Amino acid sequence: MKVIMLGAPGAGKGTQAVRVASAYQIPHISTGDIFRANIKGGTELGKKAKEYMDAGNLVPDELVCDLVVDRIKKEDCKNGYVLDGFPRTIPQAEALDKAVEAIGEKVDFAVNIDVPDEAIITRMSGRRACLTCGATYHIEYNPPKKADICDTCGSALVLREDDKPETVKTRLNVYHEQTQPLIDYYTGKNILVTVDGTQNMDKVFSDIKALLGE
Ligand code: AP5
Repeated sequence: MKVIMLGAPGAGKGTQAVRVASAYQIPHISTGDIFRANIKGGTELGKKAKEYMDAGNLVPDELVCDLVVDRIKKEDCKNGYVLDGFPRTIPQAEALDKAVEAIGEKVDFAVNIDVPDEAIITRMSGRRACLTCGATYHIEYNPPKKADICDTCGSALVLREDDKPETVKTRLNVYHEQTQPLIDYYTGKNILVTVDGTQNMDKVFSDIKALLGE
């Protein structure tokens, strides 16, 4: 099963992508996590991506597309994958289609997690992220067992640089301008499904599972 997670920053794409990956036994590929790992590792890609990410802007398509197209060709993707944070622009969606069609396949579902902007700003200030393993928590809705420590790998949790309220507003504007057009794009391909992302995390996941099928 090949699944794309769509939605505004903080809509819950990462939270649900982890669950989808586990339920359907497919890899979770998050472009945001890939960039953050590169920033942490001090790579050239990380250095380039950081300036865009810290400002709340998108990393240029040419730095993203090849990276994802190479990743989905790997052996562990032969039964599918869940893409979290990609595509985010029409050119990225076209690059993905081209790569998938080249091997005679297609994306099965684009899952749109719908959350209004007002709810996003509140959510982001409470998010805590693990920059080591990519796990995500919320101080109120999904707290770690020990404050500020990742349950999975024991690293310190942080408030992401781009989760500060002024940067979140820029990210929301960028989302509406550049990523929301993908809703029409995937509606046109008859693979868009939408869930109400304001419900609790378990309910959002059961709605997604009902749409994707067992
Ligand atoms: P990325 O890391 O992908 O950020 P994003 O899309 O802005 O998404 P987030 O990770 O912020 O949120 P999410 O939807 O995954 O929500 P989460 O599950 O964490 O990208 C970061 C940056 O990298 C981009 O701004 C860009 O610069 C660059 N980039 C990445 N991909 C790119 C691409 N393809 N092209 C160009 N640039 C790219 O949930 C949020 C919080 O809410 C958490 O605390 C969570 O616990 C909580 N929560 C989740 N669900 C619920 C719920 N149902 N109820 C209550 N709380 C909830």
